[in-house]
Amino acid sequence: METDFSKVLVTGSSGMVGSYVDFGIKTDHRSLDVTDLSEVLRVSEFYKPKVIFHLAAETDVDRCERDPEHAYLVNSIGTYNMAVAARNLGAKLVYISTAGVFDGTKKEPYTEEDEPNPQNYYGRSKYLGELIVKSVLKDYIIARAGWMFGGGPEKDQKFVAKIINQLDKPEIRAVNDKIGSPTYAKDLISGIKKLLVAGRTGIFHLSSKGVCSRYDVALSIVKSLRPSVKVLPVDSSYFKLDAARVCSEAMISKEDLSRPWQEALEEYLDTEWKPFLK
Ligand SMILES: NC(=O)c1ccc[n+]([C@@H]2O[C@H](COP(=O)([O-])OP(=O)(O)OC[C@H]3O[C@@H](n4cnc5c(N)ncnc54)[C@H](OP(=O)(O)O)[C@@H]3O)[C@@H](O)[C@H]2O)c1
Repeated sequence: METDFSKVLVTGSSGMVGSYVDFGIKTDHRSLDVTDLSEVLRVSEFYKPKVIFHLAAETDVDRCERDPEHAYLVNSIGTYNMAVAARNLGAKLVYISTAGVFDGTKKEPYTEEDEPNPQNYYGRSKYLGELIVKSVLKDYIIARAGWMFGGGPEKDQKFVAKIINQLDKPEIRAVNDKIGSPTYAKDLISGIKKLLVAGRTGIFHLSSKGVCSRYDVALSIVKSLRPSVKVLPVDSSYFKLDAARVCSEAMISKEDLSRPWQEALEEYLDTEWKPFLK
């Protein structure tokens, strides 16, 4: 069946990933609170979407650690509510999950077949969301993303923006003892669109290709935007964070839906940052 993108109901669309969604009925926290089941059912019954694209989440990993109840409410119960709405309508659900569902002990990048074992509350609440989606629905896409970047100066609050915001300093410190797979949010959306058009279901890893440390990402940013700045590698113990980060969030996919992270990052910096930097 052909995908009619005008019949996609999007949650959490005012966030970083949502900024690349150029289709469907876009709701935000104000117009649709995913933790409110009666509101979820009312809004979904009204629009009768064929696909629910569920982006709404509490993505502040340290806030989740300080307030696990809030993490479970938004990321697990909110996902349950959207799954129930999808089941009632016979709609497909797209749920974005994270490499943070894994325990980080594997030496090679994680595949879709590896067993999750989350180590912090963000990861637990997102993994519970995955289990809920799988138990409530047959027709779903669980798209796991890695270290996300995107959104430009307005929406990016993640690592890439944090490095760019320090470019006026002579030196920047970045962690080099943990690895992951960066993910351009724009590519994540185009990968999901391809999966929808192809009528696929199941779990998919949709990070950019490749594995690196935050230090490697910082080096690439500095090289592209301000080569005079020095990047110093530090251990993760240098930054005191509430939530534990595992040693590896590296991912690989059974599909060929992405490009190398360096290429994606370069495009992101060129198109979404350089026009705004002095
Ligand atoms: N960012 C990452 O590094 C990353 C990595 C892997 C996977 N993901 C997943 O990707 C998806 C999109 O994340 P993102 O990066 O776009 O995060 P984001 O920028 O934090 O956006 C999340 C959006 O969800 C909204 N939201 C929060 N609570 C809500 C609620 N109760 N009802 C409705 N909306 C609510 C937020 O609105 P307010 O700000 O107004 O509350 C925000 O606009 C999430 O499922 C996330 O778990 C993200």
